[in-house]
Amino acid sequence: MDRRWPSHWPPHLLFLLLSFISFFDLGSGTGVFRVQRKYTDRTHIADLRAHDVRRHGRFLSSVAAGAIDIPLGGIGVPTETGLYYAEIGIGTPSKSYYVQVDTGSDILWLNCITCKHCPKKSDLGIKLTLYDLNSSSSGNIVSCDESFCSSTYGGEIPGCIHDAPCQYTVLYGDGSSTTGFFVTDNVQYNHVSGNHQTKIATASVTFGCGDQQSGDLGSSAEAVDGILGFGQSNSSMLSQLASAGKVRKMFSHCLDTKNGGGIFAIGHVVQPKVKTTPLVPDMPHYNIILKSIQVGGAFLNLPTDIFETGDNKGTILDSGTTLAYLPELAFKTLMNAIFSYQPGLSFHTTQGFLCFEFSGRVDDGFPKIIFHFEDSVELPIYPHDYLFTTGNDYWCTGFQNSALQSKEGKDMILLGDMALSNKLVVYDLENQVVGWTDYNCSSSIKIQDDISTAVYTVDAHNLSFAGRLEIEGFIPFLMATYLLFNFFL
Ligand SMILES: *[C@@H]1O[C@H](CO)[C@@H](O)[C@H](O)[C@H]1NC(C)=O
Ligand SMILES: *[C@@H]1O[C@H](CO)[C@@H](O)[C@H](O)[C@H]1NC(C)=O
Ligand SMILES: *[C@@H]1O[C@H](CO)[C@@H](O)[C@H](O)[C@H]1NC(C)=O
Ligand SMILES: *[C@@H]1O[C@H](CO)[C@@H](O)[C@H](O)[C@H]1NC(C)=O
Repeated sequence: MDRRWPSHWPPHLLFLLLSFISFFDLGSGTGVFRVQRKYTDRTHIADLRAHDVRRHGRFLSSVAAGAIDIPLGGIGVPTETGLYYAEIGIGTPSKSYYVQVDTGSDILWLNCITCKHCPKKSDLGIKLTLYDLNSSSSGNIVSCDESFCSSTYGGEIPGCIHDAPCQYTVLYGDGSSTTGFFVTDNVQYNHVSGNHQTKIATASVTFGCGDQQSGDLGSSAEAVDGILGFGQSNSSMLSQLASAGKVRKMFSHCLDTKNGGGIFAIGHVVQPKVKTTPLVPDMPHYNIILKSIQVGGAFLNLPTDIFETGDNKGTILDSGTTLAYLPELAFKTLMNAIFSYQPGLSFHTTQGFLCFEFSGRVDDGFPKIIFHFEDSVELPIYPHDYLFTTGNDYWCTGFQNSALQSKEGKDMILLGDMALSNKLVVYDLENQVVGWTDYNCSSSIKIQDDISTAVYTVDAHNLSFAGRLEIEGFIPFLMATYLLFNFFL
């Protein structure tokens, strides 16, 4: 989900709305869904899920299949692109599209040729392409009486007239939205065929053709061609490929904040090995169970209900979010613990970030943080991950107070790229577990092809374009200076 930082940083990262699906606008004879997504810095797509497959997941994929290498670009650091995107080919003849990869949402959608207010250019330096159904010989509109439509929306679409398109609307936490209709077309992907080798393969996938974008989705800051949701629901590309027997329902990412890009692969990773923690059943996102937080050697003294899972509570992994968000009490306790290592600092708020001047290596001056999860799985976050610099020894912290984002999200713990990067993160949806290990995301992993049982090396990628964003206006405006303890208590 969210995940994206506009080059003009918003004063408040609105990130969370209740996720719900409801019908409206039925007069046109097609079901339009108002889908609000849960947690986002900004643009998570919504969740079209009917609570479904998790229990069946592990039985689904015994017939599958090979591995897919998805080339990645971007850097999930606020001062750079703030997001990761993948390149995929769609249509016949195939064209390349650059889509943000998002584990916090389900569907794949692209800006469509019929689009009003779609971005024409991107500050990311990506060449944008609008999807043109009429110029693809393999593309078809999905009508509201097709099974994809009814199963996505959990039943027949009221008022559906034969041949009317299956529509969708997604509303984001920042007030932007995308509306369009579903199409089915060929997606081309890199099937892993040997060590460091891929072959082009094709599968038919249903995705959204976005013809009306509003808010920031229509602007060129951070514009991409669409969003590729890696959620668990049947509507995701991953689920569609798995049910077609092309892949197992397993994927992994390694998001590289050092060199950009990284690894994004579908398939069964055999190397490196990771320790896993269970996914919370029947949740729309990748919820896991946080037990405690350790800073330096010391555990934070926090009430245990702060870690409970429930509606608008709990801990979520989200590659579509750039930063990490904690409930206010956890945030303040964490900040006090971190900055007790440097009692002399004075703080400034710059565009909503808590910043300070520091010379020297942050990894020497600040503590390592460890999030402890169910089954004794640890997620370490190092100072160079949770602090980012704008240059000139000016540093800011990537942790954010959830309470400042939105009312509904105030109790959420949302771990975005800041917490997930420079690690191989494995999502094994067949066994309903996720796991990770510190990893060099510029290197390679080994994936097993379940057809031949061969093990193949899959390399990192760094899709490169014009390069860095010009971030304007991130000068350390010293709008306010506080002593630490005045500020947090
Ligand atoms: C395809 O072409 C037809 C006829 O030219 C046009 O009416 C329709 O809007 C086009 N559809 C899309 C999705 O571009
Ligand atoms: C999702 O797909 C699986 C396997 O194809 C199917 O058994 C299940 O009923 C689907 N769930 C929904 C809600 O359509
Ligand atoms: C990471 O892997 C790349 C590619 O193998 C290698 O060039 C680089 O030196 C490695 N970085 C570290 C810190 O080991
Ligand atoms: C990755 O690409 C970015 C631009 O897209 C570039 O700035 C960076 O140097 C590249 N990294 C490597 C290791 O080539």
